Amino acid sequence: MTLKGKHRFETKTIHDGYESKSHHNSLASPIYQTSTFTFETAEAGEKRFAGEEPGYIYSRLGNPTVRMLEERIASLENAEAGLAFGSGMAAVSAVLMHLVKSGDHILCSEGVYGCTFGLLKMIEEKFGIEHDLLPLDSMEQIQQAIRSNTKVIYIETPINPTLKLIDLEMISSVAKEKGIKVVVDNTFSTPYLQRPLEFGCDIVLHSATKYIGGHGDVVAGLVVSDQGTITSIAKSTQKDIGGILSPFDAWLLLRGLKTLPIRMDRHCANARSVVEKLNEHSAVTNVMYPGQEESPSFLIAQKQMKSPGGLISFEINGGKQEAQNFMNHLRMIKIAVSLGDAETLIQHPATMTHAVVPEEERKRMGISESLIRLSIGLEAWEDIWEDIEQALER
Ligand SMILES: Cc1ncc(COP(=O)(O)O)c(C=O)c1O
Repeated sequence: MTLKGKHRFETKTIHDGYESKSHHNSLASPIYQTSTFTFETAEAGEKRFAGEEPGYIYSRLGNPTVRMLEERIASLENAEAGLAFGSGMAAVSAVLMHLVKSGDHILCSEGVYGCTFGLLKMIEEKFGIEHDLLPLDSMEQIQQAIRSNTKVIYIETPINPTLKLIDLEMISSVAKEKGIKVVVDNTFSTPYLQRPLEFGCDIVLHSATKYIGGHGDVVAGLVVSDQGTITSIAKSTQKDIGGILSPFDAWLLLRGLKTLPIRMDRHCANARSVVEKLNEHSAVTNVMYPGQEESPSFLIAQKQMKSPGGLISFEINGGKQEAQNFMNHLRMIKIAVSLGDAETLIQHPATMTHAVVPEEERKRMGISESLIRLSIGLEAWEDIWEDIEQALER
């Protein structure tokens, strides 16, 4: 028996999905590093395949360590069930393959992770699954954009890298009227800051590579939803396409999750302090962070997020050359495209994460050549700022 539903978030991150009594009282969850499971008899194997007897068969179809993680993330997102994948993109593609077929249409937030954009383009070209990218900032606009073949509204909020927010409650109320599924990429927020299912959305996914792992040592994806949807994805797109997570990587994520709330509190507090300093600096022209009262997303952040998160985007005077010069002069902060790690990371979206997005589309998304994205780490915020300041000055 797990503790699902009984405890507060911080307690669930440590206990849910794992019962030590069932594992020789081992405090840390064991790693079931096995590809397959044996059957006592041929008949037992037959029953397991027929679904007449519970138990594991083969690790692509389920593994006890991975299952612990799936139960824990489901509990944290307030979902009935969860499913783990070998990467965030394996999760995104499995969810979309589950929901759409040739001839369908996806309505998507204007501004998504570059590879999600690449996937949408690929399924349009190969399978005739069309999509539209829109700001999704008013009910009227969404109602007008919905077509008779629209099956999914796919959103990121905060949007990568402009950190604009989308109103989850508004999106799900329009979608419900039309029987359209709402999928939310919750990577930037984690369930500690935002739980989209509580606002009526249908499926939530994560690149668990980021804050959920939290230590820059694992690539993984997670999906949560109602039991029927998760069973269906597990038995179709995941089983047959095969983008599963290894038991060891699941164990790393279980370990990472135990400190998620305290890490997120620190990421968020550090980000607020750095935002204040960036706003005061004359070389910085535009600080994008939904926690500022002047941000167009401020009210949405108040409504649906516990805190605006640990990411900051900003523009500096000049263009690509000035942005790259600034990055090259950083001493402690690392140039890297991931986020949510203990180390503060910086990247240049126009030439890195969003280089695959055509220039015109990038401009529409608000990704200029001088835009820089910072993933604020767990270091002392003063050290983060001092590094930024000395690089800006040079
Ligand atoms: C918002 C978002 N979604 C999905 C992904 C893809 O995740 P992964 O790299 O784990 O495949 C990323 C990766 O950076 C991301 O930032």
